Amino acid sequence: MNRLQVKTPDKRDYEIVLDKGFNGLTAEIERLELKGRKALVVSDTIVAPLYLDKLTEVLNASDIKVENIILPAGEESKNQDNAMKIQNLLIDGNYKRTDIMIALGGGVIGDISGYVSSVYHRGLIFIQIPTTLLSMVDSSVGGKNGVDYNGIKNVLGTFYNPALVYMNLEVLQTLDERQFFNGFAEAMKSAIIKDAIYYEWQIENMYEICDKDLDTLEELVLRSITIKKNVVEKDFYDTKGERALLNLGHTVGHAIESEKMGVLLHGECVALGTVAAAYISYKKQMLSLEEYLEIRDMFVPFNLPITVDTIDLDNVIGKIAKDKKQDNLGLAFVLLKKIGKAVVDRTVTKDEIMASLKELEYTDDYE
Ligand SMILES: NC(=O)c1ccc[n+]([C@@H]2O[C@H](COP(=O)([O-])OP(=O)(O)OC[C@H]3O[C@@H](n4cnc5c(N)ncnc54)[C@H](O)[C@@H]3O)[C@@H](O)[C@H]2O)c1
Repeated sequence: MNRLQVKTPDKRDYEIVLDKGFNGLTAEIERLELKGRKALVVSDTIVAPLYLDKLTEVLNASDIKVENIILPAGEESKNQDNAMKIQNLLIDGNYKRTDIMIALGGGVIGDISGYVSSVYHRGLIFIQIPTTLLSMVDSSVGGKNGVDYNGIKNVLGTFYNPALVYMNLEVLQTLDERQFFNGFAEAMKSAIIKDAIYYEWQIENMYEICDKDLDTLEELVLRSITIKKNVVEKDFYDTKGERALLNLGHTVGHAIESEKMGVLLHGECVALGTVAAAYISYKKQMLSLEEYLEIRDMFVPFNLPITVDTIDLDNVIGKIAKDKKQDNLGLAFVLLKKIGKAVVDRTVTKDEIMASLKELEYTDDYE
């Protein structure tokens, strides 16, 4: 078992616990003095049949009365209607601020549950139990939550920290391959941004990672969330530029993601976006050709794409221009000075972005 403490601006610091199994939750409930409370578990139609019974058993053993709501699996569930369904259950069940909401699932369940937790009676006790690699290494840490509305992703949301993030690494064994590597893209992104030694470690442990070796996964998740924790502790509200570094690969990635909705997953688009950012960094003589090619090619053994076909380049450029990372100072593009050192750059031109998109179509010509 490993644990990390996350410091928050409102001094409601919380722990992230990495465990193998659900039984360790009992001690955490005791530590947080939550015995005897009521809990609403939010889960989805894939995760609930796998893990809800075991979780309920562990909570019941701590004298916690458990109710649940199970949403259809997938991004489409992250909406206002479902947020209201959760709210209504809380109201009908007369939940108090001292009661608990538990998110058992991936980032979709974590985001919608965190959102409702933050507004119900201005905040009830929230526990994240992330079950995808993406939600372990990224979305469960940092306090961002939200729902999609009118086709706009995460447009409604708040910053709200959980009281506990409890990760049972064993659940990653049931995650399908594509979802697993989708989450790995964010882990690799963190390493490329902040930690060259961790990046080397990922390459050295490539086979163990792909085999989902449990001890290797524990180290992977621990090292990734250590990076995320350090960033969000410096810039919780995403106003100081530090948290923006986490957006490496997201400017181009988001635009491709909305072009390829339903075809490519978020992490796959982040991999493509990171290749594009590394290419622009190379063209701006910040990275060497060798470093660019290394970053690009290292996604391949992890089943992540480095090329994409049939995208409308002008459409993608148009979407980037509308990106929320664009403010009155221009587009904040995350580039790389070297592996392990990302910077926010506001000088990236449309031509440079277009060249990087063409690079994603793959060519051998690097001149
Ligand atoms: N709040 C943040 O800071 C933040 C950061 C990144 C992403 N996100 C959000 O996270 C969401 C994506 O999260 P995700 O990739 O976890 O998607 P997800 O929650 O949709 O999970 C992916 C799929 O895996 C299934 N699944 C989950 N755990 C499983 C397990 N252990 N075994 C088998 N199947 C399992 C789910 O049912 C789902 O079908 C997006 O909505 C994104 O906006 C939020």
